[in-house]
This record gives sequence, structure tokens and C-alpha cells, in this order.
Amino acid sequence: MSSAPTVAVIVVAAGSGTRLERPEPKAFVTVGGHSILAHALERVFGMAEPAQVVVVAPQSHLDDARRIGKAVAGPAAVYVAAVAGGATRQESVARGLAALAPDIDTVLVHDAARAFTPSALFDEVIAAVRRTTAGVVPGLPVADTIKQQDAAGSVQQTLDRSSLVAVQTPQGFPRAELQRAYDAAAEEFTDDAALFAAAGHSVSVVDGDPLAFKITTAWDLRRAETLVGTVPNVCTGVGMDIHAFDDDRPLWLGGLYWPDEPGLAGHSDGDAVSHAICDALLSAAGLGDIGGRFGTTEERVKGAHGDVFISETVRLVTGAGFSVGNVAVQVLANRPKFAARRTELETYLSGLVGAPVSIAATTSDGLGFTGRGEGVLAMATALLHRSNP
Ligand code: CTP
Ligand code: MG
Repeated sequence: MSSAPTVAVIVVAAGSGTRLERPEPKAFVTVGGHSILAHALERVFGMAEPAQVVVVAPQSHLDDARRIGKAVAGPAAVYVAAVAGGATRQESVARGLAALAPDIDTVLVHDAARAFTPSALFDEVIAAVRRTTAGVVPGLPVADTIKQQDAAGSVQQTLDRSSLVAVQTPQGFPRAELQRAYDAAAEEFTDDAALFAAAGHSVSVVDGDPLAFKITTAWDLRRAETLVGTVPNVCTGVGMDIHAFDDDRPLWLGGLYWPDEPGLAGHSDGDAVSHAICDALLSAAGLGDIGGRFGTTEERVKGAHGDVFISETVRLVTGAGFSVGNVAVQVLANRPKFAARRTELETYLSGLVGAPVSIAATTSDGLGFTGRGEGVLAMATALLHRSNP
């Protein structure tokens, strides 16, 4: 290391994230295309003072942790290392401590799950450890009234909220004392400060930061997405449908009846235009597709016309918090000829969707199944606006 740091940050990321209920370990779940670990490290590398950074990751994800560490560190890659964690957070911290360089005299222990902790909070904790030569935790005032209950759930007393703080990380300590406290620890403590205090050392509180919240549940993950601005206000979707001609059926297309035209085969009425519109809308809203929503064999949609599918789809999409911006449809077919009924069709579909629907149609110049007159292909795009951004 070029200028040997005297500070280290142990970033514990070896938990499985049971409460988040995701297949991958929590620190490797992505928010806005970057892992929670990467977000946390981004803030660590924003610290004013150079630090040794030890990532403690699950054995199964050690290579990923190394790759993420190097990528976030960029030119400071020499400062970062990854080691395998243990079965408990305490064991993971202990393994991080074992990886510290000899020059380190101040250690910060930080939960990767507190991915948005501002760099300035790390700087403040380091300064406070040096000032007090003791343990330091960031804490926030407790907003809720806290009561103590007995095993039967009956309230025993209301605690004095003014004396309580909700504690976050990074927690900072003089290295030698923390190491000794860890070496002596014979039980599991809820956090590093408790372990440190149990060894007879003092711990003080500095102002925490609401951004240092811990991503624990799906709700927290959703909140994290808002913070990184990855919840788009506009969403696009695409849909496509194909139906074969069936001379024995009437033609329903774009929700309208087309007399004197060969019909389309299908469990419903084979309306490829309406179905493509539905798929585009569902796709934009992230609600799956028409097959998944309505089924391909369900009795209630047997012979159903396009208006049934479109109205129900619009209901689903708006129910999910979207409004429709517009829908554009491109039809590929030899027949029917759309030119004469385009305005009628667009007006009708726009009414159903509640937003402009445009229809374009073309042939495939004699090529493929549409060129041979075997069926109709319809493709649609949809633009949705999130109504409650
Ligand atoms: N942690 C760890 N090693 C463990 C357990 C937890 O390094 N054996 C880390 C987590 O990766 C997390 C931090 O400690 O960054 C705080 O723990 P928590 O939020 O409880 O994460 P998990 O234990 O992974 O989640 P859960 O309790 O929901 O399973
Ligand atoms: Mg846990």
C-alpha cells in the first residue's frame, strides 16, 4: 500500500438476508443495477482519509466480493480485500479483524446493508474515536414511544424516550481494545459496541443519519430504489401476437367486427391487434403477459372480444399505479385492408385504452406466413406514466 492507512473499515456483508427473502445473499441483491455491497463501498471510498477496506462476504460469493471491491475502488484497488465470513455477524467481524494490516490503529465496523450511509458519517466516527480514544456509535433519537411488556404482552412501563437512541453503523473503536474485546467475548452480542462495552470500555454516541438505515425487508429495498432514482416515471412495453386465418369464423380485429373477411383462429376471437395491445400494456407495467393474466383455456374468455381483454388490462395497469401515455400498433398482414377503417379503429381503441392508440399496417411483400396469407401478426408498444411517482 502506497501510503499505509491507519484506519480500516470492516464491511460485513456475509449475512444471507433471511428477512429480504431473496435467493442471493442480501449484499449481492442489486438496487439500480448495482449490488447493495457496491453502494455501501461507494460511500466508504468517499471517506476523506485513506483506509484499508476489508469486505467480509459469504464463502460462496468471495470472488464476487473481490470483483465488486476492485471495481468500486478503481485506482484505490490496493486498499481493498475480501475475506470469508462466519455463521454470525460477530464471527464475520472477527474474521475481518484478523485481516487488518499492522499499521491500523482505528477500526470502523459497518453493515453493508446500510448501503446509503454518507461518507461524512464515516469521517465523523473516525474523528470521534480519536477524540475520545474509546468506542463511538452513530445514533438517532427514537421517534416511537417505547414500552416494556411482559411475556403475556401486558405493558409494564413506558420507557423514557429522551434517554434512548437507535444505533447504526459505522461503529468505531481503537483497534487494540476492540481486538482484545473480541478475543475475550464468550457470548453473542447484538452489536460491536455492546461487545466492546462488556469488556469494560466506554462508548459514546455521535449523531447518526437517516440515510444509514439498514436494508432489511422488501420495503427497505423498494425505498433504496427510490433513493437511487431507479424507479422510472415512464415505462415502455412491447407486445406481439399472431393468429392464423380460419375461413369458418368471423373476423374481429382491433375490437371491431370486419364483415366479409376471413376470421382468425384462437380460444378467444383471435384478435391479434387487441392481444398485442394488452401484452404491451402488461409488459410496460411489469405485470406479465396476457396468457398469464387471462389463461389460454379459461371459459370466461372463450370467444371474448378485444374490448374485454383491453378493458381488464387497463384496469390492472391503472390499479398498479400507472396511467397510459399512448399505444402504437403495427400490423403485418395481407388483409384486411386497414386504410378505410383506420380512423374508426383508432377512435374506438383510444376510447377503450383511455389514451391515444395509433394503428399502422403493412404487408410483408409476399414473404413469410403473412406474405402467404396464412395469418395476421400484430406488434404494439405502450408508454405508461407512473401516476404516483
Ligand atoms: N452479517 C455478516 N455475517 C453474518 C450475518 C450478518 O456479515 N453471519 C452482516 C450482514 O451481511 C449485514 C450486517 O451483518 O450487512 C447486518 O446484518 P443483517 O441486516 O441482520 O443481515 P442478515 O443477517 O443478512 O439479514 P437477516 O437477519 O434478515 O438474515
Ligand atoms: Mg441478521
